[in-house]
Amino acid sequence: MNQHKGLRNNFISFIMKNLFLFSFFIMGLFPGENIAQIRDISIIPEPVHIVNGKGEFILDKQTVIIAPLDDTALNQLAHMFVQWLAPATGFDLKIKSEARSSEKQVRLALNGSLRDVKDGEGYALEVTTRSITLTARHAGGIFYGLQTLRQLLPSAVEKKMVQSASWIIPAVRITDYPRFGWRGLLLDVSRHFFSKAFVKTYIDQMARYKYNVLHWHLTDDQGWRIEIKAFPKLTEVGAWRVPRMGQWWTYDQPRKDEEATDGGFYTQEDIKEIVAYARERNIAVLPEIDVPGHSLAAIAAYPYLSATGYIYPVNPGSKFYNILDNTLNPADERVYEFLDKVFEEVAALFPNEYIHIGGDECTKTFWRKSAEVQAFMQQKGIKNENELQSYFIKRVETILKKKGKKLIGWDEILEGGLAPEATVMSWRGMTGGIEAAKQGHKVVMTPAQKAYLDLYQGDPALEPDTYSMLRLKTSYQWNPVPDSVNPSLVLGGQGNLWTESVPTGRHAEYMTWPRGLALAEVFWSPEAKQNWTHFQQKLEPHFNRLEAAEINYSRAAFDILADVKRDEKNKLFVSLSTDIDDLKIYYTFNNTNPDSFSNEYNGQPVEIPEGIYQLRAVAFKNNIAVGKILIINREDLEKRAKK
Ligand code: ACM
Repeated sequence: MNQHKGLRNNFISFIMKNLFLFSFFIMGLFPGENIAQIRDISIIPEPVHIVNGKGEFILDKQTVIIAPLDDTALNQLAHMFVQWLAPATGFDLKIKSEARSSEKQVRLALNGSLRDVKDGEGYALEVTTRSITLTARHAGGIFYGLQTLRQLLPSAVEKKMVQSASWIIPAVRITDYPRFGWRGLLLDVSRHFFSKAFVKTYIDQMARYKYNVLHWHLTDDQGWRIEIKAFPKLTEVGAWRVPRMGQWWTYDQPRKDEEATDGGFYTQEDIKEIVAYARERNIAVLPEIDVPGHSLAAIAAYPYLSATGYIYPVNPGSKFYNILDNTLNPADERVYEFLDKVFEEVAALFPNEYIHIGGDECTKTFWRKSAEVQAFMQQKGIKNENELQSYFIKRVETILKKKGKKLIGWDEILEGGLAPEATVMSWRGMTGGIEAAKQGHKVVMTPAQKAYLDLYQGDPALEPDTYSMLRLKTSYQWNPVPDSVNPSLVLGGQGNLWTESVPTGRHAEYMTWPRGLALAEVFWSPEAKQNWTHFQQKLEPHFNRLEAAEINYSRAAFDILADVKRDEKNKLFVSLSTDIDDLKIYYTFNNTNPDSFSNEYNGQPVEIPEGIYQLRAVAFKNNIAVGKILIINREDLEKRAKK
């Protein structure tokens, strides 16, 4: 008896002690929404609706992919899926139109009346122990369902060599669709040229995170990158500049007779190939031909295009703005004839309903100085240069309309009056977007402060040289729909990778990820599903995935950022922070590397002692250093305080 009682008491006390753990066990028996993390499911962007099931599907070499014979798009996607899995699994999975119910299967199917997935890009995915069923209304939804499925597999699936992993996919039911129909990344291929192979690589990376617009910045002062058959010099001359190393905007001007050997361009065949490649991955390519400013490369090829008519070489990254005339001449009919022919070829190459015409940062200096331009304004009754810019953009809109295309441009196209049907891409904050929407125009939000991927993502003492600052958390905690705006006018948003300081594809990746992960979730997931705490938990699994896929990315979110201020008594204070929560920061002023026995930063500004040589600081998690050591010399701390 006593022994039994003792056993029961022990059992009760065991249960009481483990009630907390026990509750997780109970939650496991009754799966629900909140336990995605327990099952280690880590999907970016976060799906709309996710319910855990029991058990798991194990993908093996007998698994068959089922796609209806008569559906070319689904068969193509099935092949793509098999190809993604092949290198790491070593499997050559069979694609069939039917399978026995006893066979393990991944079934792809279209269902035009599927509910709860909104329109075009939504999907429903159900994983049980025996089968995986992926349904969507359109092929685009199947493509995104496959991306989600890929993320449910262990990250080793991304490796390029055969792995001895167990290919477990947790049982789960997901219904998912995007918040916005426009989820873009801009790649600037003018400031630095990127090979066709890299552009495809970048498209692949975008597709993993459900981006659907590649904004391809094809022309600028530093290079014209698209073959235009009517104007061969655009690429013979405009695609090449003199080689320079060092810091952008400080390069020497081209010297006389120096050969322009740096650059490149895409032939029209290259472009067709990239457009088709993107389309297979549910990505529309948006070409940008940036006019009337940012046109020095075109002017280098055809000097008659500017009002000044000077002959310049393509800019290699040296200072020239307001010094050399990089603007097209809005008073010359030959310019509109040129644009008509250029856009004729561009329109034929890109199926996108939009063409981006730039319109940003057009200096008016040279229009003001030109007698021809001033006479033209008088003759037309155009009161100022902003109105002249508006006149120019409206003429470009007419040209595009003739070619069956819609105009989109940077928010400067508001100045002097918007063209009647223009869509505005807001980059100088969201103000331009708000104003355009107030006038009833559609907008795409890409404010520099939230979405410019060329900015520093960590402390300048630790990061490759660039300008300004955009931390991961800032990108994540952004709502592209301001309160004052009719949400139906906001088509979506975009991250922009300008490449003045991005000379290689590897560095383009470093600047894009993980801020591109944050923006993917901002653009796809419902606001209610966006959660910074959860997003941070998903980072490490996605870093593993990127690493396995040999995609470069930045860990700057774990590094320290130092902010220095002077108080009214002229004393220097430093504040230290990391993007990632719950890290401990340790610092020293005595020229030693901090560890978890050094001074712990307590969240308040610390006075910098007189006469020190350096600040050193590093972040720790669970007593392990997780970021780079930040080292700043005293004079640099003082310089920061002056800013
Ligand atoms: C821009 O950044 N000039 C659009």
